[in-house]
Amino acid sequence: TLIRGRVLTFLREPQGPGDHQAYSYEEDGAVLIDGGRIVASGAYGEVSRAAAPGCTTADHRPHLIMPGFIDTHAHFPQMQVIASFGAELLDWLNKYTFPEEARFGDPAHAAGIAEFFLDELARHGTTTVAAYCSVHPQSADALFEAAARRDMCIIAGKVMMDRNAPDNLVDTPPTSYDDTQALIRRWHGKGRARYAITPRFAITSSPEQMEMAGALAREHPDLHIQTHLSENRDEIALACSLYPEAPDYTGIYERYGLTGPKSLFGHCIHLSEREADALSESGSVAVFCPTSNLFLGSGLFDYQRYRRRAKPLRVAVATDVGGGTNYSMLRTMDEGYKAIGLQGEKLNPLSSFWQITRGNAEALALADEIGTLGNGTSADIVILDAGATPAMALRMERAKTLAEELFVLQTLGDDRAVVQTYVAGKAMKGSTGGGDGIRD
Ligand code: GUN
Ligand code: FE
Repeated sequence: TLIRGRVLTFLREPQGPGDHQAYSYEEDGAVLIDGGRIVASGAYGEVSRAAAPGCTTADHRPHLIMPGFIDTHAHFPQMQVIASFGAELLDWLNKYTFPEEARFGDPAHAAGIAEFFLDELARHGTTTVAAYCSVHPQSADALFEAAARRDMCIIAGKVMMDRNAPDNLVDTPPTSYDDTQALIRRWHGKGRARYAITPRFAITSSPEQMEMAGALAREHPDLHIQTHLSENRDEIALACSLYPEAPDYTGIYERYGLTGPKSLFGHCIHLSEREADALSESGSVAVFCPTSNLFLGSGLFDYQRYRRRAKPLRVAVATDVGGGTNYSMLRTMDEGYKAIGLQGEKLNPLSSFWQITRGNAEALALADEIGTLGNGTSADIVILDAGATPAMALRMERAKTLAEELFVLQTLGDDRAVVQTYVAGKAMKGSTGGGDGIRD
């Protein structure tokens, strides 16, 4: 298949709004796909010459072709938690989230929501997600199965949680270890699936379970680890009181060997300098979840200063659905722009789109496979229309540059701006990827 349109991809992180060397852009461009992979991209004239005779063309002119968006932190069992009113993190977990996640012990329910989740992500232009499942191993099976049917690159794990949660939502240190090992054997490296060791956070794991998570990390050093860190003041105080010997919240994870270049720490809002240094030195990733941080009133992630400090943090961006309020990485970056603005900084639109494509791919150590449109990478692609709604089209009359167009997409765009999403070369929008989209 040949996909034709205006091709935009990032080569490295933009240094500012005028950094035209940071990206490659072809006004009359194309991407050639074979066997789910990108085999050529660039000027239409050249790429079309490389295409086999009779190759089908999807003509998306005048829309933008970009690498599919990457969401580095989301909870698939929280689709029916979004828009839960009036609580901050710990109350929100107890009142809304835990009761909802308890339903995922039912494999039919988990399977139905897994289909919805991946369809909804694709509708919003997201082609890879790092997802938390519920405590139930069958919830992870459901999500991995749904992703496999779509040939989608997914990182996911069953949540490990053995305390401070309802009885029907806890495992134990040995069962969490055994279930995780079984899921790793079943799913990690199968097709495009990757398993993430997923202790929910220090509050819901006993020291014995943290030991187990550390043991899993030592036995599988190539696996991602995902957890939550320093999201909310009450959460921090409770976590530190449960681990009185730790110097601070980050120190808890360090002590069990859970920091490192494959470790994804959701939120990281209220870090001390010591904690930020520790995350930086270990190469850990701090995940910015703007819609969630604002919705739950958790605080403002200091994106610009984290990246510019003497010991910079590796940073990723994510929805954190269902603490987060939208599946769209466009909506997410719009809220991110505002959260960064409240701290006296601006994030230019080139950097913003770098972040949700190549930047997030690099943070996940997956840039050889996704996020770049590079030859040999997977054909995970989004087609964007900055004039998708009347208001966007009207605003676009005043947009003169590519950066302005991207900013309109980010500020006014949502799923309506996503014309099509390709996962491994297959069009996802308007089809229900693998499943029938029907649930209980
Ligand atoms: N901390 C522990 N679990 C969660 C969760 O599900 N959502 C958010 N936002 N924070 C958490
Ligand atoms: Fe989260």
